[in-house]
Amino acid sequence: MSSQTLREARKMEEIMGKQIRDEERPLFHLTPRAGWMNDPNGFCYHGGQYHMFYQYNPYSSHWDSMHWGHAVSSDLIHWEYLPAALAPDEIYDSNGCFSGSAVTLDDGRMLLMYTGVLNERGKDGWTVEVQTQNIAVGDGVDFEKYENNPVLDEKDLPEGASRNDFRDPKIIRREDGTWAALMGSRPADGSGQILVYTSTDCLHWTYEGKLAENHNRFGKMWECPDFFKLDGKDVLLTSPQDMLPEGFEYHNGNGTLCLIGTLDEKTKSLIEEHDQAIDYGIDFYAPQTVLTPDGRRVMIGWMQNWDALPIREPHEKWAGQMSVPRELSIREGRLWQVPIRELEAYRTSPVSLKNIPVSGKVQPEGLRGRVLDMELTIRRDEDAEPFDRFSLWFAMNDTFHTSISYRPREHTLKIDRKFSGSRRAIIHQRRALVEEKNGELNLRIILDRFSVEIFINGGEQVMSASLYTPLEADGICLRCDGSCRVDLNKWDLSI
Ligand code: FRU
Repeated sequence: MSSQTLREARKMEEIMGKQIRDEERPLFHLTPRAGWMNDPNGFCYHGGQYHMFYQYNPYSSHWDSMHWGHAVSSDLIHWEYLPAALAPDEIYDSNGCFSGSAVTLDDGRMLLMYTGVLNERGKDGWTVEVQTQNIAVGDGVDFEKYENNPVLDEKDLPEGASRNDFRDPKIIRREDGTWAALMGSRPADGSGQILVYTSTDCLHWTYEGKLAENHNRFGKMWECPDFFKLDGKDVLLTSPQDMLPEGFEYHNGNGTLCLIGTLDEKTKSLIEEHDQAIDYGIDFYAPQTVLTPDGRRVMIGWMQNWDALPIREPHEKWAGQMSVPRELSIREGRLWQVPIRELEAYRTSPVSLKNIPVSGKVQPEGLRGRVLDMELTIRRDEDAEPFDRFSLWFAMNDTFHTSISYRPREHTLKIDRKFSGSRRAIIHQRRALVEEKNGELNLRIILDRFSVEIFINGGEQVMSASLYTPLEADGICLRCDGSCRVDLNKWDLSI
């Protein structure tokens, strides 16, 4: 039985969703049906389809009163909206159905585990959030909240863990068939940790231990964990709040962290071997992964930065979008990402330029477009002095452009969306430290109407940013301070 609150949300999204024309959305990046979207939730493969739920406010383009929106896809490229799955309609979630995950039970039903938020007045009159874990079970469209919710609350916390920061359960299935739920938590040291609870039926959960502890190394509270095996390693993804930058890593405030290591089967904790940001651009947070039927680990993140929300104008009918799905692998001990290979089937109108000299500004004939897949290889011009800077400008006309600039002497790649149409004094640039391979830097650029994702050196690093430049700005040009040589392959994406 759906509640009045859920019925109203479903009606609202149907009416408001129809008012958004297809051209006002990205071509293949998922946006909320109407209103506001943040984290991906419940990303899973169920009954022959991928399901993506998301943090959702169908009533405005601002964060408020979290629901779960819902979309399905057979290929992770074409998405179809389903009615909102969860609304804040119980006491324990009356201030929001926060992030969580989805699994398929052995009887074929889908189970959602999410964080319920209830605002409470503390003794001093200050409002605090009480966060508990809750279950809803259904057929993949309609869900019934479990009568014994919450299934985990403050009684289940280890000593020192906060009842106000206890959220974002990710359920995984272990090889022995039992379930484990990972949770973001704030211990007494004020930073973050990942708690593990286990279950045989997904309803009754027992505290097992800590998968990882921050000890104030990487930001504060750790949100939205995911954990999986990949290429013989154990990988923990989490999104720490309030990070301090370290060199060229962790510049996003609320950032992302990938810890690669080996799970100690005895203590069930991760022995860490390597840490890195997941994305080096401006907009990427709270990713979740799914295992595809053919064995690929695919990740989607929220392509937005909490500190840069004003990039989206307040009157817009939708706010927030997901990243392109990315296939993950471990190479040389690092996390590598490439756009999901299904995208390549939609490449049309190829433009191919080999070893062209670039000096000053070059605007090759026919090189334009706002929805495209482009590969660039940049190398030194052997007949000239080493160059100072190479730039690619795109989403460009006389008023607007966004640029990617490579400075070989500094080994930096910079994205700059200052002239993308933003009217706000928010962060518009980000630099990453990059390394040439055999004297070349390779970039793959995925441009949709309102975003750019740059895959560096075949996926060694990624930089993502949203940009809300008017669509008529579709020019592209190459620039070099000095001289360099470039190979370029560009396709339109026709989906
Ligand atoms: C991360 C997050 C989660 C929380 C959700 C609320 O972006 O803060 O920790 O569950 O968003 O919308």
